Amino acid sequence: MVKRYSFGEVFQTDSIPVIPEAQSGAVPYMEVNESEMSLTYTMDPEDIVYGLGENVRGINKRGWIYESKCSDESKHLEDRRSLYAAHNFIVVDGREKFGLFIDYPGILTFDVGYTELSTLKITASDWNLDVYVIEEDTVTDIIRSFRRLIGRSYIAPLWAFGNGQSRWGYINAEDVREVVRKHRENGIPLDMVYLDIDYMERFKDFTVNKERFPDFADFVKEMKDQHIRLVPIIDAAVKEEKGYSVYDEGIEKGYFCTNEAGKPFVGAVWPGRSLFTDMLNKEARDWFGDQYKVLLDQGIEGFWNDMNEPSIFYAEDRLADALKEIAEMQDGEQNLDLDAFTHFKNLVLDLSANPEDYKKFYHTVNGKKIRHDQVHNLYGYNMTRAAGEAFERLEPDKRILIFSRASCIGMHRYGGIWQGDNKSYWAHLLMNLKMLASLNMCGFLYTGADLGGFGSDTTEDLVMRWYALGIFSPLMRNHSEMGTRRQEVYRFTDLEGFKHMIGLRYKLLPYLYSEYMKAALRSDLMFRPLAFDHPDDKRCRTIEDQLYLGRELMIAPVYEQNARGRYVYLPERMKMLRFTRDGRIEETILEKGDHYVEVPLSDVVFFLREGHLLPLSKGGQCVDDVDFEDLAVISFGENAEYEYYHDDGFTRDYENPANFRVIRAGQK
Ligand code: GLC
Repeated sequence: MVKRYSFGEVFQTDSIPVIPEAQSGAVPYMEVNESEMSLTYTMDPEDIVYGLGENVRGINKRGWIYESKCSDESKHLEDRRSLYAAHNFIVVDGREKFGLFIDYPGILTFDVGYTELSTLKITASDWNLDVYVIEEDTVTDIIRSFRRLIGRSYIAPLWAFGNGQSRWGYINAEDVREVVRKHRENGIPLDMVYLDIDYMERFKDFTVNKERFPDFADFVKEMKDQHIRLVPIIDAAVKEEKGYSVYDEGIEKGYFCTNEAGKPFVGAVWPGRSLFTDMLNKEARDWFGDQYKVLLDQGIEGFWNDMNEPSIFYAEDRLADALKEIAEMQDGEQNLDLDAFTHFKNLVLDLSANPEDYKKFYHTVNGKKIRHDQVHNLYGYNMTRAAGEAFERLEPDKRILIFSRASCIGMHRYGGIWQGDNKSYWAHLLMNLKMLASLNMCGFLYTGADLGGFGSDTTEDLVMRWYALGIFSPLMRNHSEMGTRRQEVYRFTDLEGFKHMIGLRYKLLPYLYSEYMKAALRSDLMFRPLAFDHPDDKRCRTIEDQLYLGRELMIAPVYEQNARGRYVYLPERMKMLRFTRDGRIEETILEKGDHYVEVPLSDVVFFLREGHLLPLSKGGQCVDDVDFEDLAVISFGENAEYEYYHDDGFTRDYENPANFRVIRAGQK
C-alpha cells in the first residue's frame, strides 16, 4: 500500500506518472520536523537500510551521509556523498519494514547513522515535497509496489545486450574500423562501438566532423553490414557559436536557461563557452529531442547522454572575476602565506561545479521562472526524457538505445544509466556489483559500469575479473579515459580467456534478456541481495558481495587481486556451474553453508538454484548470430522449469502472450 503526504508547494517532477491522493494525518514511522525541514527515524541495531540507487558504499546504506545532488564526481571515493544521480528511495528492513520515497527536485540529505549511529535523518533544502510511505509484507513487495508507482522501466533493443567497446580517443573512422577488425579477426563477439566527443565538429552536439568521418551515413552502414552499431555521445551543453544551427535556433526561440537579467546563462564545458537548454520547459525539451533526428536519419540507433548533471567547468562571471584577481596579484608582492596561497589556489579550483553558479540560472516552467538549484536533480532526467520522448515520436515502431550519466527517479522510464567515471580500482569492481542491486530497486535495469575501469591504468587481471561480472550486466561496455593504458581485450596476452568469457555472455543472452524483460514488465528486480529471498537467514543479511540474478542464479565474482578464489555462502543447496576456457561446463552440487571456491582467472563460476534451469544458446559473434530458440539447458532438480521470455527485440510489442513460454528439463 502506498500513501502520499504532501508538504508546501510541491514542484511537479513527473517522477510518478499517476499521483495518488494525498493523505491527511501524520507520516507513519517518521518524525516530521518542519522547522528543521527534516524527517527522522530511530533505527534498531539490526535494521538494514536499502536503496539510494547510484551512490557510494554498501548495499546496506547505514553508516554514512549521502546527498541527492547530481554531481560530475569522477573519483567515486568512500568519502563522497553523491555521484551523478538523485535516487531518493530507501527501504528500512527490520522490526518495522517500509519504503520511503521523497519526491523532491532539490538537494536532499540522507544521514543514515552518520551523525548518530541509530538515527536516520532526511533533510531537505526547502519544505516543499511529497513523502511516499510504502508498506507491504516483504522487502521485495515493497520494492515492487514502489516500482509500479514510478512506472515501467526503459526497455532497450535486444542488440544493446551485446558486447560494446568504447574509449575516449577513437577519433576517426579508421580507429573504429581497427577496433571492429581486431574483434572480428580474433573471434571476440562485438555489437557496438561507442563514439566519444571526438566524432563531433569541435564538440558541437548533433554535428559530425567531416574530416574524421567523411561520409558518416555510409560509415554507419558499413558498420551495420558487419553487425556493429555505432553509439555516439551527446553532451548537455550547446556550444556558443553564431552560424551553428542548434545555437542559432535555441537563441532565437529562447530555449536556453537564462541568468538573473534574462540573458542566456553562459558556462563552459568541452567546447568552451556553452549554453544549457531549458530541459524543464516542454517546448525546449521537444526541440532538443528533435535534434537527435539528424543522427537517426544517418542510421544511428543508439546514444549516450553525458555531462548532464549538468557539469559546468566554469561560469563566465566567475572566470572573469578569478582572472581579474589573479592579474591584480601579479602586480603585488607575490609572497603568499598559507591563507593567501589557499585563496589563490581556490580561485581556480572553485571554478568547476561551483554551488553558487547553480543559483545563477533559471528555468521557465509554465511561464514561471525557477532557479536552477531548486530543481537541479531534474536536469539530466529531462535531457534523457527529451531524447526518449522524441524517439517515440520519430521512431514509434523501433526501440532506440539511450542511457545517461545523470539521473533521477522518473528517468528510468526513458533510458538506462551507466555508472559514470569509475577507476581501474578493484574496489570499483565490487562497487559495480553492489550498485546493480541498489539501482534495480530504484527502477534502473539497463545499467552497467565501465568494464576495466574508466580512469587510471588498468591491469589484465582486473579487466578479466571485471568481465566475469560484466557479462551479467545488461549494459556491457569496456570504456576508458584518454591517456590511460589501452584496455581493449585484444591488447592483452590471454586472448583465449577473454574470448571464452565474452563468448559466454552470448550463450547467456537468452536468459539475461528474458530476465531483464520479466523484471521490466513485472516491476521486479533482476539483481537482488540474498536477504530478500532469505529474510530470516542472519548471514544473508550481511552479504554484500553475492547477488541473486533472477530466480535461478546466484553470482559471486572474485574482486580481489591475486585471489585464486573466494569464500561463497550458500543459503541453500545449489549447483555450482564452472565454465572453463576449453568450453567445458563442470556441475557440482554443494550443500548449504560456506565454501571456498577456486576460480582461476579465466573461469566463470556461478550457482544454479534447486528446482530451476538455465537456458543457454550456442553463442555467436554478434546478437544477430544468436539463435534464441535453439537452446541447451542445464537443470538442477527433477521438475525444473523456466519461464522463458523472448520477443523480436526491436518493436514495442512487449506484452504479447506469445512472448512467454515454459521450458522444462529434458525438453527445449
Ligand atoms: C565524461 C564521461 C566519459 C567520457 C568523457 C569524454 O567524463 O563520463 O564517459 O569519456 O566525459 O566525453
